[in-house]
Amino acid sequence: MERVPCLLLLLLPLLCISGATPEPCELDDDDIHCSCNFSDPQPDWSSAFQCMAAVDVKIHGGGRSLEQFLKRVDPDTDPRQYMDMVKALRLRRLTVGGAQVPALLLFGVLRVLGYSRVKELTLEDLEVTGTTPPPPLEATGPALTTLRLHNVSWATGGAWLSQLQHWLKPGLKVLSIAQAHSLAFSCEQVRIFRDLTTLDLSDNPGLGERGLIAALCPHKFPNLQVLALRNTGMETPNGVCAALAIGAVQPHQLDLSHNSLRASGAPSCVWPSVLKSLNLSFAGLEQVPKGLPAKLSVLDLSCNKLSREPRPNELPQVGNLSLNGNPFLTLEASSPSESTMNSGVVPYCAGSPLAVGMSGTLALLQGARGFV
Ligand SMILES: *[C@@H]1O[C@H](CO)[C@@H](O)[C@H](O)[C@H]1NC(C)=O
Ligand SMILES: *[C@@H]1O[C@H](CO)[C@@H](O)[C@H](O)[C@H]1NC(C)=O
Ligand SMILES: *[C@@H]1O[C@H](CO)[C@@H](O)[C@H](O)[C@H]1NC(C)=O
Ligand SMILES: *[C@@H]1O[C@H](CO)[C@@H](O)[C@H](O)[C@H]1NC(C)=O
Repeated sequence: MERVPCLLLLLLPLLCISGATPEPCELDDDDIHCSCNFSDPQPDWSSAFQCMAAVDVKIHGGGRSLEQFLKRVDPDTDPRQYMDMVKALRLRRLTVGGAQVPALLLFGVLRVLGYSRVKELTLEDLEVTGTTPPPPLEATGPALTTLRLHNVSWATGGAWLSQLQHWLKPGLKVLSIAQAHSLAFSCEQVRIFRDLTTLDLSDNPGLGERGLIAALCPHKFPNLQVLALRNTGMETPNGVCAALAIGAVQPHQLDLSHNSLRASGAPSCVWPSVLKSLNLSFAGLEQVPKGLPAKLSVLDLSCNKLSREPRPNELPQVGNLSLNGNPFLTLEASSPSESTMNSGVVPYCAGSPLAVGMSGTLALLQGARGFV
């Protein structure tokens, strides 16, 4: 491991109170969770060795560039050298964040992880720089079930998804992409995600319905069951329905919560017949949108601005309907007064819009707590 920083420390005795600085990595008593925070200007990278025993590993790069490690990824080195060691790792969940990573290094790491049994990979707050290596002849990366990317930017723009996909062995079930820098995928290069059942594009407020059409590469998600589009700049349920039709996706569950939806506007459209659950909560709706599916098991209209109870003919046939947190309920419960009507603040929903606005930050804070 890198020892040069220690030599520098010898030359700067004043900085040599290193006994006071905590170890960057911490392994819990049960050998399950290990987290590293390399935000120190001269971190002791070798501390990461203790994570070799862990199942769940989180590595935060402290915002630094990992270029220095590139020289260790020698394309001529046969990764089979590490094969037995990597196979023996208990690692199942890996989170890597807070760094600039050359694409060559990232894909080199994926190749090594191909020998591991890691199932869940999360990349967050990463900037992937430089050109991508040519795709492997067959997928040599890990057989992930879950891949999450939060605030990851790629020098290669919209080509990133297909490039990444070429390294992953089949079997990916859950793909979540938040705060993306590009969701305009190069669809002709994307292969069919045969096993993918959940696609979560939530927290991409700039996506919009046109962006959704670009992101839902037609016929590439044939077995999708859950599509989450929370806080993605959607405008009307019918506009989303049209995008689903173009992408030929047939979700059973659709989450459109936390979008500013209009009740009408786009021409109505035929919803997938398998759609059973629709979430229209926190959508600012003043009336029930027209053109919803005729029959649903679950419809969540909570925390909207419905000022009167919807009439049966305005609603689909629904098994489980939630209307909590709409002004008409408050007006019925308390004596109607000007102030509650104007403020529009309904206790059931209080605080939640803020929570979503801050969700990225909250996630970071929660992540940070894990290191303490
Ligand atoms: C996104 O990631 C970059 C590093 O690539 C970081 O500088 C930035 O603060 C992150 N943004 C948010 C909102 O966390
Ligand atoms: C609908 O979305 C809201 C906010 O995202 C969530 O709190 C609620 O549980 C969801 N409802 C259903 C039925 O899943
Ligand atoms: C209705 O949905 C809510 C939220 O998902 C759940 O807690 C409740 O059990 C459901 N009720 C029925 C009758 O299915
Ligand atoms: C890493 O450590 C630095 C300094 O100790 C701290 O400011 C930062 O919040 C930590 N980051 C994470 C993700 O824990």
